[in-house]
Amino acid sequence: MSDAVGQARRDLPGNAAQRDAWNDIMGPRWLTNEALLEASLAPVADLLLAEAAPRPGEAVLELGCGAGTLLARFQDAVAPGGTVTGVDISATMLAAARARAPAGVRLLEADAATDALGGPYDLIASRFGVMFFADPVAAFSAVRTALRGGGRLCFAAWGPLADNPQWARPLAIVRRHVGGGPVDPDAPGPLALADTGKIHRILAGAGFARVALRTVRFAFNPGDAAAAARLAVTMGPAGARLREAEASRETIEAVRAEIAREQAATHGTIHLVTARD
Ligand SMILES: C[S@@+](CC[C@H](N)C(=O)[O-])C[C@H]1O[C@@H](n2cnc3c(N)ncnc32)[C@H](O)[C@@H]1O
Repeated sequence: MSDAVGQARRDLPGNAAQRDAWNDIMGPRWLTNEALLEASLAPVADLLLAEAAPRPGEAVLELGCGAGTLLARFQDAVAPGGTVTGVDISATMLAAARARAPAGVRLLEADAATDALGGPYDLIASRFGVMFFADPVAAFSAVRTALRGGGRLCFAAWGPLADNPQWARPLAIVRRHVGGGPVDPDAPGPLALADTGKIHRILAGAGFARVALRTVRFAFNPGDAAAAARLAVTMGPAGARLREAEASRETIEAVRAEIAREQAATHGTIHLVTARD
């Protein structure tokens, strides 16, 4: 049993393990590393906004809005006359969102898989907020009911580990130090939607039509090699594995130094997915 995202506790029902992880472990870690994460993930925000194409007057829900760094961009895009709501399961992440959300943005602490989401929305969009559902078909079905007829879902999810060297190389180093098997592809976590066939099956099962998916490579650059290493031992699959193995401070430091020697700027791979109700 572990408390890391990707290997979250399985003795809690539904998404409770993820709620706890994003409140107590991953949320604080995300906020501590926010500047590095934003630097790395800004290209994904640009790709998502371009793909989702929010328009003036639309009602938008940002799913798993986290610390809320994209909310202002959605609000600018739907003005005049549109509305933006951010939903997140984590009070920790929402507290950060609340501090930066522009006036008029509504924030909702809720499990998008089971709780009322308001709406109906013209667009439900997410950067990396839809890979954490215990029952993805049920979750995406529930999300679909918050869309207006003909409304669109648009999200970015990580592609396979092998195409994401910024996570794969550190994980290989971590495994040399603490062991560990492959990441469970079906465990809720960053890589849960890495398989494009699985995305199609889940969305079809949830009642979505006209699914369009493209896989995009982007420059992943948190800064210098030291910053990349700090991020890698804290977040993503390598950080999760270190937590799971209860690695000592010395081990983490050795891993961090080794990652810093070989990793600076690299690339990431995402799936950009659009589907219609
Ligand atoms: C990887 S973070 C991404 C945050 C933000 N979208 C960004 O890109 O900066 C994933 C977010 O999804 C949220 N989340 C996970 N499961 C959720 C659920 N069932 N309902 C709502 N939010 C959820 C987490 O709390 C976390 O804030």
